Amino acid sequence: MWRYRELLPLPIEEAPVTLGEPETPILAMPKTARRLGLEHLWVKDEGRLPNESFKARGMAMAVSMARHFGVTKIALPSAGNAAGAASAYGARAGIETCVFVPKDTPAVNIAECRLHGARVELVDGLISDCGRIVAERQAAEGWFSVATLNQPYRIEGKKTMGLELADQFGEAAGLPPRTLPDAILYPTGGGTGLIAMVKVFRELNGVGSALAVRASGKSKGSSVASEVEERLPRMYSIQADGCAPIVRAFEAGARHATMFPNAATAASGLRVPASIGDFLMLDAIRSTGGKALVGRETSIREWMRIAAGEDGICLCPESAIVLDGLATLVRDGDIRPAEQVLLFNTASALKYAEVLPTD
Ligand SMILES: Cc1ncc(COP(=O)(O)O)c(C=O)c1O
Repeated sequence: MWRYRELLPLPIEEAPVTLGEPETPILAMPKTARRLGLEHLWVKDEGRLPNESFKARGMAMAVSMARHFGVTKIALPSAGNAAGAASAYGARAGIETCVFVPKDTPAVNIAECRLHGARVELVDGLISDCGRIVAERQAAEGWFSVATLNQPYRIEGKKTMGLELADQFGEAAGLPPRTLPDAILYPTGGGTGLIAMVKVFRELNGVGSALAVRASGKSKGSSVASEVEERLPRMYSIQADGCAPIVRAFEAGARHATMFPNAATAASGLRVPASIGDFLMLDAIRSTGGKALVGRETSIREWMRIAAGEDGICLCPESAIVLDGLATLVRDGDIRPAEQVLLFNTASALKYAEVLPTD
């Protein structure tokens, strides 16, 4: 990711805190595509990053900046993968790391944090409860909070997902350089990745990089068509039906989401009942002509089996939920069969022992 460092905030003379973040591949999913009635389905496999999740990008950036500013202690609330990444980069930088995670966070996430020597606090509640504890205690403990959107740096690191995509997609799909997919699907919790990608596509258009010409043109009619920026891919935010605050707000036409009651999903990264970036997500989705919609909890294992068994791709539960949302979008005609569709696999399935099929 550091080959984009001129577009990132770390001063150029300063070495980043890095664990060798590779460019993640874009792979075709032809058999899954056929099942969905699509001709072109792609996955950008973020499970190849350090600690096997896309959270590495934001944390590499945030911890690099923390070290730059002389921070000695960081803390954060997390659904699991961000805690693992913070622990890894914190260890690398020699920064004390304290993570607050729900007590039923996947065992691998808790284990990876401990392995990296982080202090792990298990909370009887959700990530929102963890966030409250960090906010209450950060002054007394001397922590710098790297909670989602509490600082500008995680989002800057996650922009590199969009930068890589812009560099890679045309070649991967046999289309002109710098072509972007028609539709991008993203499993949404706190929303950093979604917001970061739209931000960077706009930045690239702003510097005249001739980017963001979509692969095959116009979106389906939309009630906000006049506000839609035609040169951006349509961004689809998928949440689990057991925790879908952004979907509810989108459907209600609201700019802010309300706390989703009794949030529950095995796709632990999506168990975010409220996010301070709700309006940024909703603006991003609407301004691209996309949608927010749910995937069914009950479909997670089935989609994981299809992607892994037929296309060899180990989708995390969060991205399996995305495939279920995609089925709805195709069925409803929001996405047409010949369009170029790309989803993010935000982590490796192998981090989720609790969800992996046992039979
Ligand atoms: C695997 C996975 N996918 C998706 C998400 C949601 O990402 P975001 O917070 O960028 O919306 C998370 C967050 O924890 C995650 O761990």
